[in-house]
Amino acid sequence: MRSRRPLYAALVCVVASLPFSASAQDAAILSAEARFHPVIAERGMVSSQEALATEIGVDVLKAGGNAVDAAVAVSFALAVTLPRAGNIGGGGFMIVHASKTGETVAIDYREKAPAAATEDMFLNDAGDADSVKSRFSGLGVGVPGTVRGLALAHQRYGSGTLTWADLIEPSIVLAREGFPVSDDLASSLSSNWIRMHLARDDEATRIFYGPTDGPPAAGTITTRPDLAATLQSIADDGPDAFYSGPIAEAIVAKVNDAGGRMSLDDLSGYAAEVRAPVTGRYKGYTIASMPPPSSGGVHLIQILNILEGLPIAESGLNAAKTIHLMSEAMSYAYADRSMFLGDPDFVDVPVGWLTSTDYAEEIRAKIDPDHATPSSEIRPGTPPAPYESNETTHFSVVDEAGNAVSNTYTLNFSYGVGFVADGTGILLNNELDDFSAKKGVPNAYGLIGGEANAVEANKRPLSSMTPTIVFKDDKVFLVTGSPGGSRIITTVLQIVVNVIDHGLDIASATAAPRIHDQWLPDEIRIEQGISPDTIRLLEEMGHTVALKDAMGSTQSILVTPEGTLHGAADPRSAGSLADGY
Ligand code: GLY
Repeated sequence: MRSRRPLYAALVCVVASLPFSASAQDAAILSAEARFHPVIAERGMVSSQEALATEIGVDVLKAGGNAVDAAVAVSFALAVTLPRAGNIGGGGFMIVHASKTGETVAIDYREKAPAAATEDMFLNDAGDADSVKSRFSGLGVGVPGTVRGLALAHQRYGSGTLTWADLIEPSIVLAREGFPVSDDLASSLSSNWIRMHLARDDEATRIFYGPTDGPPAAGTITTRPDLAATLQSIADDGPDAFYSGPIAEAIVAKVNDAGGRMSLDDLSGYAAEVRAPVTGRYKGYTIASMPPPSSGGVHLIQILNILEGLPIAESGLNAAKTIHLMSEAMSYAYADRSMFLGDPDFVDVPVGWLTSTDYAEEIRAKIDPDHATPSSEIRPGTPPAPYESNETTHFSVVDEAGNAVSNTYTLNFSYGVGFVADGTGILLNNELDDFSAKKGVPNAYGLIGGEANAVEANKRPLSSMTPTIVFKDDKVFLVTGSPGGSRIITTVLQIVVNVIDHGLDIASATAAPRIHDQWLPDEIRIEQGISPDTIRLLEEMGHTVALKDAMGSTQSILVTPEGTLHGAADPRSAGSLADGY
């Protein structure tokens, strides 16, 4: 692949002396002040959390595939090379922009509860939420949506030049002939938590630890023969090979042996949905993001609406005042999340009200510019009646024609529920832990839920995944998204404001330290890199500030006004790669 970093560095020196009348972010793209530089390409680009998958996507673009074709190939590749989150046994969301028609759609391939699911299935005999059931048993496994979602995307939005089988072939080769274990894969498989998680299943232990009799060292060539055979069936016979026949039977047997309630009818009846994205305006840009059953797009737009009337650009990146205002806005949004968000096929989600500028103004009026509002004083809002109806992975693709894909998909926990359907190589999810097991009891990410996200047969659990495309003058400007559980929404938010408000290039916007506030617990989580002086000022305003692990792994592509592609794979994830041609 041609790398243009040195050329870019030279260009920076030349342009630093040129007069600019461009907007803040145009100037920042060419700024000599930047400490981080994006990868630059002219024709097409992929940014994902794993380098082999990125290169497969770039090869698809070079072979004449469009952004959706590349996205399908990247998704199958990540199921092989990034098994902790890349998957065919989980689900996710894809935002697709088709440049020819100008259409932008949201493909919902989130897992569903099986038909035999009941509201009390995650409770113990005393009526308390039992997280072992929702996180570590077959009851937590949702009916997987990934294969149907990718098939739908390819059929409706693919270029037509590359077949379904063409796009799966590179992953079959990786799984059958082997690939070098990355530092990231070696590190995750050797962590104590993952060893214990996977040790509960003989099949998972055989596949991930058997060949090397323990965690594989980085660089070891590893094969996944069962997964290769499964992928070959899906390539030969289409998505039905996953949803009926021997593969479906193996999934159902594994789930039910582990205490679950899945049937062959649940699998054969699974359908992905095309939904209208949730949209908003922010400082002259249009935001298109994932609607319910994700809470991501709704609250991204809600928080941006609140921030639009607050002086965060003036107070500056990660200044105490900026963090305070952002944290207050986040807190109100997460309080609303707990009350109103759920699967729109089951509950009436007040999207219009939550994303309205009038409601944002109401919240803004409650924010004290100098003092923290305790979470106990923040309550979900009251909609006008009746109202209208840490481990995930994201990748972004833009092609030469201006098509774009923003895709986030997941098994929920790292390696999902930790069980592999025997003989298939398919790791199963534990996505149903994203339901609210009991009103007011937090899920694995500390998120509180209510009736709207209660367990019901065939319902999709609420998500925070926020695949997003930002448009300027109807053209794709920024494609972004992230893993990170509850922190996904605020991570994506910070990419948007770092570029639009703070004028950072996409690499610097990605590297900047992140903050997060989700209403409960009542604290601002911060990454390393926020200055002690800033922390002290926040504490003086009444905030509790907690230093936590790095948040998110954004994979972003920014399109400059000239049409050049700037990619930034998050340095927080070892092995991430943005590349193009
Ligand atoms: N499982 C994490 C999410 O969907 O938000």
